[in-house]
Amino acid sequence: MDRAGAGQGIVPAMKNLSGKQIVLGLSGGVACYKAAELCRALVKEGATVQVVMTDAAEHFITAVTMQALSGQPVYGSQWDTRQPNNMPHINLTREADAILVAPASADFLAKVAQGRADELLSLLCLARPAQRVPLLLAPAMNREMWAHPATQRNVAQLRADGAVVLDVGRGDQACGETGDGRMLEAHELCDELISFLAPKPLSGRRVLVTAGPTYEAIDPVRGITNRSSGKMGFAIARAAREAGAAVTLVAGPVHLPTPRGVHRVDVVSARDMQAAVAAAIAQADVFIATAAVADWRPAQSAEQKIKKDGSGQTPQLYFTENPDILAEVAQSERARSGALYCVGFAAESHDLLAHARAKRERKGVPLLVGNIGPATFGQDDNALLLVDAQGATELPRASKHELARQLIAEIDRRTPGVAGKS
Ligand code: C5P
Repeated sequence: MDRAGAGQGIVPAMKNLSGKQIVLGLSGGVACYKAAELCRALVKEGATVQVVMTDAAEHFITAVTMQALSGQPVYGSQWDTRQPNNMPHINLTREADAILVAPASADFLAKVAQGRADELLSLLCLARPAQRVPLLLAPAMNREMWAHPATQRNVAQLRADGAVVLDVGRGDQACGETGDGRMLEAHELCDELISFLAPKPLSGRRVLVTAGPTYEAIDPVRGITNRSSGKMGFAIARAAREAGAAVTLVAGPVHLPTPRGVHRVDVVSARDMQAAVAAAIAQADVFIATAAVADWRPAQSAEQKIKKDGSGQTPQLYFTENPDILAEVAQSERARSGALYCVGFAAESHDLLAHARAKRERKGVPLLVGNIGPATFGQDDNALLLVDAQGATELPRASKHELARQLIAEIDRRTPGVAGKS
């Protein structure tokens, strides 16, 4: 095995919230049950979590549960005497990296929008040093309450005051109705917080990513595809988004959730992918082609299923070459002038460095990322070899998410002159 590949131990996954102090506030709502899972997820990511609950929240979940999950005593009252100076609203916020209120009820949003402070959670939201300690609110309520002009007015006011009001989910509600207003799931909230706290070196930049395989139809029920899972490309889209970029992800047929905040365009064939890339490329500063685009497609796709006729004769399939999306983009005026930075991927089975070098030349891209296909397809981890004009850099085996972050940092380092970068 050559450079980036097997034989290297997996670098333990970095915890995304290591060293972060998070105040997790719960106001009253059925979604409190998700706060338990959220607390666990935050702790698992390395955060120190201080839970603060309103009286209403304690009707839905106990402080005992939240204390056990956070490993810290829960606060619920501004009159709590456990703090030597008797000022929990000050002490709990001065060292915090963020306050996340989940669930944030309609009443709680109204309170914070008005600057009221008659219980500990709203009091500490008001008392936090607003320039330093961001406030994230995860609304949770019945759809009529969410849609009510009073709530929407409060949300607008909160945003104007600098709070981050997160999206709501859509679906079945505890009251039996269906619509907008569900609190996001615990893992979505955890991702939102990780993304919010991540440095933003790509802020103002636009990144276009292709990911996954393509599917080339032989007839209406059969086709040619490959074993690409799309995981590496989706991880790159997520990492670029976390780094502050506006991200469009053109995805072949894969079963992966869209990273939060990423604009996804689903495609099937190489030609669909080519069209989707062509439509988006003028708005991109960086193009990262991770997709495993089929090299060939059947010259003709039968309109009806090709039937076995019992004669023992096999159908003759003729192939035609697919467009090379990356090479086309890399030859464009914007790419050649340096306004668009192109990154290609190479999935090889052997001689990675030699193949990656050759592919970089052939595709005409400044950066080519090599990986060993059979060792990574469908896996959650990978190892990368970055080849540019200066030489080769190894990113040792790690989770695809971690590698994606490192790759984004490498791209950032190599693109000082791209529009939008200060
Ligand atoms: O030639 P090969 O398929 O190995 O090149 C791999 C790189 O080129 C990847 O970045 C892939 O996304 C891109 N590619 C493409 N269009 C093709 C074939 C490959 O964009 N038709």
